[in-house]
Amino acid sequence: ERGEYRHYMLKEIHEQPVAVADTLEGRLLDGQILTGIFGPQAVQLLKQTEAVQFVACGSSYHASMVAKYWIEALARIPVSVEIASEYRYRDPVVPKNTLLVTVSQSGETADTLAALRMAKSLGYLAELAICNVPESSLVRESALCLMTRAGPEIGVASTKAFVTQLTALLLLALELGRQHGLDATRYRDGVTQLEHLPQAVADALKLDPEIRVLAERFASKHHALFLGRGRQFPIAMEGALKLKEISYIHAEAYPAGELKHGPLALVDEDMPVIAVAPNDHLLEKLKSNIEEVRARGGQLIVFADKSVSRGITHPQETLLELEPCGELIAPIVFTIPLQLLSYHVAVLKGTDVDQPRNLAKSVTVE
Ligand code: F6R
Repeated sequence: ERGEYRHYMLKEIHEQPVAVADTLEGRLLDGQILTGIFGPQAVQLLKQTEAVQFVACGSSYHASMVAKYWIEALARIPVSVEIASEYRYRDPVVPKNTLLVTVSQSGETADTLAALRMAKSLGYLAELAICNVPESSLVRESALCLMTRAGPEIGVASTKAFVTQLTALLLLALELGRQHGLDATRYRDGVTQLEHLPQAVADALKLDPEIRVLAERFASKHHALFLGRGRQFPIAMEGALKLKEISYIHAEAYPAGELKHGPLALVDEDMPVIAVAPNDHLLEKLKSNIEEVRARGGQLIVFADKSVSRGITHPQETLLELEPCGELIAPIVFTIPLQLLSYHVAVLKGTDVDQPRNLAKSVTVE
């Protein structure tokens, strides 16, 4: 039931604090991740893991890309991420003791399932599914699983499914970290950030009225550029995907450091450039990329952590400030305003928000 909400997508965006809390429920205790949440033999298998291969499609692929940054930083294990429709037709080389992780809301995506089935003959250590549907094929066919608990998602565009995937993946990254020598203080800090996540998501939702106003500037645009660095690059990709799929505005995401290698040529007074600027070690680098856009007259819209936002934009540019949050959860928190932006732009354009043209919720054929 949509209840008071005009669209399922808006309802699902607002359900995210609860969806995140549900996904963490019974998985954290006394500042620790409970062992065994990935399945009975998981403790041993995660300890043995020497590499991780992610396979997924669409938004689930973007979530997996964020996980690469987390796992490499926290567990010091090499991670590869690949789109399922590419992976399944390659002849991949699998290093010893590699864990295969599939990520899927539905658990029925044809390419992801085919990739899992193909991978079974390649000698992976085990297969772990991160999935939202317990009775799905993906879960049934994987040795290990960690369920997201987003509840049913009706809107075709992934919102609460994506955010709960990230939540589950941060649990996985911290658990792998714990088993692979992550310093106890950093581990505890990570768990504390996760405990704060439902509140941080709720705080981000409060930007809704400001974003609704901002959306008015987009409705007449044909293109937009999303920029991020590090863990926020996949979030920029997700922001661009949301805008494309529900408002039909052509949007592209770039790692901000790539600007000079081509996309800067697109920037003029007509091009909105959206940058995500959390409080992290790449902020100064991002600021110089923002300056490059400014120098070409691009229309800057910056989502920034309030504690570091001073001077990041000039008066005629747009700054939206998020409450300060921990560096690990920042990619999850910064997703929220980008979802709201695409939602409000789509509403203004009058597109079918919950049922975008040409798309299906679950892609069960190739
Ligand atoms: C985008 C979107 C799709 C899905 C993709 C994978 O908003 O929803 O890109 O993420 O089709 O679907 P699942 O996660 O069910 O495998």
